[in-house]
Amino acid sequence: MTALDVVIMAAGKGTRMKSSMPKVLHRLAGKALVQHVIDTANELQARHTIVITGHGAEQVEAALTSTDAKKTLRFARQMPQLGTGHAVQQAVPLLPDDGVVVVLSGDVPLTQADTLQALIQLCDGKQLALLTIEFDDPTGYGRIVRDANGQVQAIVEHKDANETQRAIREVYSGIMAVPAKLLKPWLARLDNNNAQQEFYLTDVVRFAQSDGVPVVAHKIADAAQVAGVNSPTQLAELERAYQLRQAHALMADGVRIIDPARFDVRGALTCAQDVEIDVNCVFQGQVKLGQGVKIGANCVIANCEIQAGAVIHPFTHIDGEKLGVTVGEGALIGPFARLRPGAQLAAEVHIGNFVEVKNSTMAKGSKANHLAYLGDATVGERVNYGAGSITANYDGANKHRTVIEADVHIGSNSVLVAPVTIGAGGTVGGGSTVTKSTEPNALTVVRAKQISIANYKRPVKQAK
Ligand code: UD1
Ligand code: CA
Repeated sequence: MTALDVVIMAAGKGTRMKSSMPKVLHRLAGKALVQHVIDTANELQARHTIVITGHGAEQVEAALTSTDAKKTLRFARQMPQLGTGHAVQQAVPLLPDDGVVVVLSGDVPLTQADTLQALIQLCDGKQLALLTIEFDDPTGYGRIVRDANGQVQAIVEHKDANETQRAIREVYSGIMAVPAKLLKPWLARLDNNNAQQEFYLTDVVRFAQSDGVPVVAHKIADAAQVAGVNSPTQLAELERAYQLRQAHALMADGVRIIDPARFDVRGALTCAQDVEIDVNCVFQGQVKLGQGVKIGANCVIANCEIQAGAVIHPFTHIDGEKLGVTVGEGALIGPFARLRPGAQLAAEVHIGNFVEVKNSTMAKGSKANHLAYLGDATVGERVNYGAGSITANYDGANKHRTVIEADVHIGSNSVLVAPVTIGAGGTVGGGSTVTKSTEPNALTVVRAKQISIANYKRPVKQAK
């Protein structure tokens, strides 16, 4: 099989974004536009992926280098930007002669790998293959001019087209596959004698004609796959298209999404059977939902695993970041709960409203139902952690652990000053500030003794 090399044009300015950030770094589904294109190239197992940079080149290259774990990306700078043909010319020194070159754009994020695979097959290592589409309104696009037999003759840019050509609704998508050994000499022959005085990549069609190389078109119907982002409005439209596509794929697998129009995945969401997701939830990074998990409305859930039967009530925020979060089987979380990195909750744990858990393990059946903080804590089974209680885990310089052994009850409004261990079966009286470890089964109360003065008379104002 012929090796594949991908050229991604990403030097354009993106004026209509009206942003100080280069266009291709704007995010769709939480990921830079150009990164979507690079990921597609990786899916195709491209040998080289060459990104043509220009406007904001340093920023684009820095952003992409930091995500290029396998160091497979190459960059070629295009300064100034003299057209798409000129853009691809910059890649020539990096393109081996024996490959097929696929030309993509950094601002067209949703082209699918199987579409490109079909295009590459059509190219067959020896033809010029164009990806085309029909639009009701083809204004602005290069028109596909065919002869009486339907053979592709030329691509004529909108600004160069006559009335008859402008009536053509089939347009060039901006994506082609072509053998490098044909492309290179064609690129060398480009000129800028046209309405825009640009070096048009599309002129290679004319050279193929004159060299007797067949030009073939792969016409698709799905506009989202070739749609470019030029403005915030188009970015939002493509975001929706992408999210709808993901929602429908999940629903096809049985996931019940209350409203696919109010559903966002920015990363990878995997769901077992009978998962239900209410409206306005956002899933980020890697999220795994087990069998029968229910997610209430308005939750943001990132980098975590939620095991079978767990219920996440509305307005819960979970982000495992690098350490991850685990919610055990049958656990009940929220509403208004916050689980931070390293929260490891076992089966049937209950976390209620305005409870924050960070870098803590909670064993089976333990509960913190109201207004509490557990940080750097190890909590045993069946613990009841009272409302308003906190672990004071930070002494201003270092973090320390709190250990709460099995069957402990922590009364409301307690402060556990770490490092400290509350022995198994122990009880801490409400309002206690515990600084020393306690014995198993002990009652610990650390607060001023209550005094009551019978028939107490409040002071009264003295007469003048
Ligand atoms: C190009 C095609 C047109 C096609 C359309 C599809 C040419 C001459 N025309 O139009 O037939 O219908 O795409 O969207 O190719 N870029 C550079 N350097 C440059 C110019 C552009 O890197 O000097 C990049 C842009 O950033 C963008 C891509 O190339 O990512 C396409 O450029 P754009 O200006 O959108 O395409 P057109 O030339 O209008
Ligand atoms: Ca343009």
